Amino acid sequence: DGDVFKYYADGEWKKSSSGKAVSIINPTTRKTQYKVQACTQEEVNKVMETAKAAQKSWAKTPLWKRAELLHKAAAILKEHKAPIAEALIKEIAKPAKDAVTEVVRSGDLVSYCAEEGVRILGQGTFLVSDSFPGNERTKYCLTSKIPLGVVLAIPPFNYPVNLAVSKIAPALIAGNSLVLKPPTQGAVACLHMVHCFHLAGFPKGLISCITGKGSEIGDFLTMHPGVNCISFTGGDTGIAISKKAGMIPLQMELGGKDACIVLEDADLDLVAANIIKGGFSYSGQRCTAVKVVLVMESVADTLVEKVKSKVAKLTVGPPEDDCDITPVVSESSANFIEGLVMDAKQKGATFCQEYKREGNLIWPLLLDHVRPDMRIAWEEPFGPVLPVIRIGSVEEGIHHCNASNFGLQGCVFTKDINKAMLISDAMESGTIQINSAPARGPDHFPFQGIKDSGIGSQGITNSINMMTKVKSTVINLP
Ligand code: G3H
Repeated sequence: DGDVFKYYADGEWKKSSSGKAVSIINPTTRKTQYKVQACTQEEVNKVMETAKAAQKSWAKTPLWKRAELLHKAAAILKEHKAPIAEALIKEIAKPAKDAVTEVVRSGDLVSYCAEEGVRILGQGTFLVSDSFPGNERTKYCLTSKIPLGVVLAIPPFNYPVNLAVSKIAPALIAGNSLVLKPPTQGAVACLHMVHCFHLAGFPKGLISCITGKGSEIGDFLTMHPGVNCISFTGGDTGIAISKKAGMIPLQMELGGKDACIVLEDADLDLVAANIIKGGFSYSGQRCTAVKVVLVMESVADTLVEKVKSKVAKLTVGPPEDDCDITPVVSESSANFIEGLVMDAKQKGATFCQEYKREGNLIWPLLLDHVRPDMRIAWEEPFGPVLPVIRIGSVEEGIHHCNASNFGLQGCVFTKDINKAMLISDAMESGTIQINSAPARGPDHFPFQGIKDSGIGSQGITNSINMMTKVKSTVINLP
C-alpha cells in the first residue's frame, strides 16, 4: 500500500503485518495528511533483537569511524531540509521558516555531538590505590566509558526531528544502538530524518524507527527487557513511564510553567520583546515557552501595553504562509486551551484581546490580572495564551514560581545583576535566564528540569555521558 509510510527496521523499509495504519491529521486542514504503519508487539520484539545484535559490533567500531558516519548523516540531513520541513508544516503546523530551522539545527547538533563524542569518550581516568588509607601503591585502576546497549528514544510532537536527533546522536556516538518511537504527529518527519541516517550508511539494525499506536506498543516498548536506557521528551506520560520502567537510566524532559519575573528597573522594551518571542513562538507549544509573567505592579500597566501592541502585530494563519501563530497541534489541545481561557474568564481575568478560535487556530491572547485561583496560573496551556500575574514583591513572584509542580526554566528581568543572581538562586528551576526568555539552546548547554519537569540533564555533553557507564579494570601488582 503506497499510501502508508513504511517503518524502518534492520536497515529496510517495511510494512507492518498488522495491515493497519495510524492516520496523521493535519492541524490546519483537520484532514488526514499521511498514514504510517501500526506496528505490532511482535515487530517491536524483532527490532529489539536486531538492535541488540547490531550494538555489539557497533561498540567495537572505532570512535572516529562512528563520528565520521554521524558527520555524514548531518550533511545529508541538511541537504534534505526541504522535504523534512514540508512534513513538519503538514503534520505539526510549524511555521515554514521555523520548520527549516529545526532541521538545520538538528544537522548542527549531530555534527557537534560527533565532535564532542570523540573528545570526551577518548578520555578515561587512571587512579592509584595508595591515596586511600590502608593501601599500598599496588593497585592501578583504569576507567573508560562504555555504551549502555539499546537506547529507546521517544521525542514529542513539537520538535519531532530535533528532539529525536538530540537522543539519537549521543546514543550512537557513545556506541549504543537506537530504537526510535516517533510521536504520531511528526512521525513522517521522523521517517524522513531516519532516511538520512540510512543514506549515511549506518550498519543494519543499529537504528530503527517503529511507528504505531501508543495504546498498542507504548508500554510494551518502554517496559521491554531489551531496552537499556530511555530518553523521553513529552508530557505526563513520562511520569507514568518512569514508574513502570525497569532499573535503567532514564532521561526525561516533561512539562514546564516557565515564569518570567519582571522587576521595577527592567528594560521593559526588552521584556516585551522576550515575552512575545518566549510566549508566542510556535504558538506557545514549547516546553520552554514563557507560561506566566510575574510583573511588579508599579510597571505592570506599561509592560502590558507594550506587549499588547506587539501581540497586535503577530500574524495569524497557516504555517505555509509562515504566520507567527498557526493552528495548535490537535482539536483536543485547542479544547484544553479553551477550557483554561473560559475558566479565567469566569473568574474575572482581564482579556487584553478578544478570544478568537477557528478550528485549531487560536488567536494570541494575553490575560491580565490573573489570580492564583485560576487554572491558567498553574497549568500549561501549550498554546498562544499567556497569563500575567501582578506582584507586590519579588518574594511573591519567587513564591509563585516555587509553588508550581514544574521546575524547568524561568527568567528574570532586571538591570541589577546582584538581585538577579539572588533570585536565580531562590527559584527552584533547572535553568534561570537573566534578561532573556527561557530556551533550551545553544544545544551543548545543560538542559534539565526539576520536580515534575524531568529527570537527568540533557544538552549534548550530558546526554553522551548519560548514555554511557563507567567500566573499570584494576591491575593488582604483587
Ligand atoms: O519543547 C521543548 C524543547 O526542548 C524546547 O526547546 O527552547 O529550543 O524551543 P527550545
